Amino acid sequence: MLQQWAADALKTYVPLEADQIMGLLEIPPSAQMGDIAFPCFMLAKQFRKAPQEVAKDIAGSFSHPAITAEAAGPYINLKFDRAHYIPLIMDELATENIPDTGKGRKIVIDMSSPNIAKPFGIGHLRSTVIGAAIYNMYKLAGYDVVSVNHLGDWGTQFGKQIAAYKRWGDDNAISEDPIGESLKLYVRFHEEAAEDETLEPEAREWFRKLEAGDEEARRLWAFFVEVSLKEFNRMYKRLNVSFDYTLGESFYNDKMQPVVESLKEKGLLEESDGALVVRLDDEGMPPCLILKKDGTTIYPTRDLATAIYRHDVMEGERLLYVVGNEQKLHFQQVFSVLRKMGMDWADSCIHVSFGLMKFEGKKMSTRRGKIVVLETVLDEAVARALAIINEKNPDLENKEQVANAVGIGAIIFGDLKNHRLNEVDFSLEEALSFEGETGPYVQYTYARTQSVLTKGAAMAGTAGITANSALPGSDVLGDSGWELLKLLTRFQEQLQRGLRNHEPSVLARYALDVAQSFNQFYNKERIVTDEDQVRSARLNLTRLAGLSLSRTMQLLGIGTPERM
Ligand code: ARG
Repeated sequence: MLQQWAADALKTYVPLEADQIMGLLEIPPSAQMGDIAFPCFMLAKQFRKAPQEVAKDIAGSFSHPAITAEAAGPYINLKFDRAHYIPLIMDELATENIPDTGKGRKIVIDMSSPNIAKPFGIGHLRSTVIGAAIYNMYKLAGYDVVSVNHLGDWGTQFGKQIAAYKRWGDDNAISEDPIGESLKLYVRFHEEAAEDETLEPEAREWFRKLEAGDEEARRLWAFFVEVSLKEFNRMYKRLNVSFDYTLGESFYNDKMQPVVESLKEKGLLEESDGALVVRLDDEGMPPCLILKKDGTTIYPTRDLATAIYRHDVMEGERLLYVVGNEQKLHFQQVFSVLRKMGMDWADSCIHVSFGLMKFEGKKMSTRRGKIVVLETVLDEAVARALAIINEKNPDLENKEQVANAVGIGAIIFGDLKNHRLNEVDFSLEEALSFEGETGPYVQYTYARTQSVLTKGAAMAGTAGITANSALPGSDVLGDSGWELLKLLTRFQEQLQRGLRNHEPSVLARYALDVAQSFNQFYNKERIVTDEDQVRSARLNLTRLAGLSLSRTMQLLGIGTPERM
């Protein structure tokens, strides 16, 4: 909005197209200087003059009914007449449509993708919440986006799982705590395999049988899948995340042979110690393992079949993989092999990677059983949120419901506010604080906008401001309100930036900025004043801020309680 208006106004004085001008515009370092700044460095070259001179010349001849220009060194600072622009901006924001720039473009997002027979660790939380936010962002921008939960339900670990079950499995214990017991078996397998050399071959044999469709192996495997899914679905429900498809690695079992054949045909497969690999020396990478010595497939084989399926059958134009950093090499190898197979669309496969998440300083490890289980963390967060609410607002209705939204929201926001590549050392106490850069802070601010609106509605004459309203002077919103209003115009730019970088933190930061800006406005200005016109404008701003906050919170996947 402002950018567009500024560019239109400058167009007459600057030998550039409006779009070019828009690309150059900046926000001045301080609000007193102006609303928008135009740097003159580029014109300086063109005019063979010092940028300061150029700025002075243009500012000198600039004339516009509702914008003033002032040179400040190499910049031209523009100031908008608030009385004129406030109603215009408010009208535009009230009817803001997000252009569906992604119309007809299909994106497939691989997200969450936990492993069967293991607890849903906090490690998969990042993939789930980052994936869900990116999914929502694409959707809002009009893309045809589908999410796939690529369950880890295939591979040698299931051979281990079955072997351990056959040796030590206790049906009673399993029916009581299926995942906990499966994990114990898995851990025990690794402990005992260090001493007992017969265990590993036994496990390999079970996986071979599983791939060959052996009835007992299949039955045991199906059982582990079922109990795990039950637990995962409980978690997804709490996180309010769903998937368009849940297609585990096992889904590709009958789709790998053609891949192996094609690799052979193209002369890409080489033998190495009895196994079959694709060499990637020319790209400075270790070989990509395709078939193990015993003929069984492996993780990369399944990912090759998966990518081809997502491209050919699901018709994904861009394939995203929201998976931790530690799998960087794996995806580089898979994408390289695809390229070597002649699939030039491999360039539109993107590993949306993210850093490790430690929880209160603890790392995650499934092998040794020292794992931070997500469910425990969610319970703890909700319990603490409830305690805080009991202290701050003991009479609140639906306390449990609100505590749930706040506790879960704190975890999701605590994750998403970080640049995804950064490591996160998650602290529940910090994430749950009502002040600072937290989910509860944003939620609390949203609830504040709603309570101000309720208060305002109780007074007469609070109809929304219109473009024709005769405003009592330009200061109807105050400086802080004007700053907030300008910030609200920047949502689309933030959405685009977030999408370009697959970075939900851009929107989390934006939500924090809007919350902070609203609170400044709230603290500086009386919103529900006796003057009808002023009150109406301020309430309208409050409403727009509330809409902006709830829209952004929904994108991030966090709840928006009306009261807290
Ligand atoms: N199940 C894997 C893990 O937990 C993640 C799968 C990611 N997706 C993929 N297509 N490889 O490590």
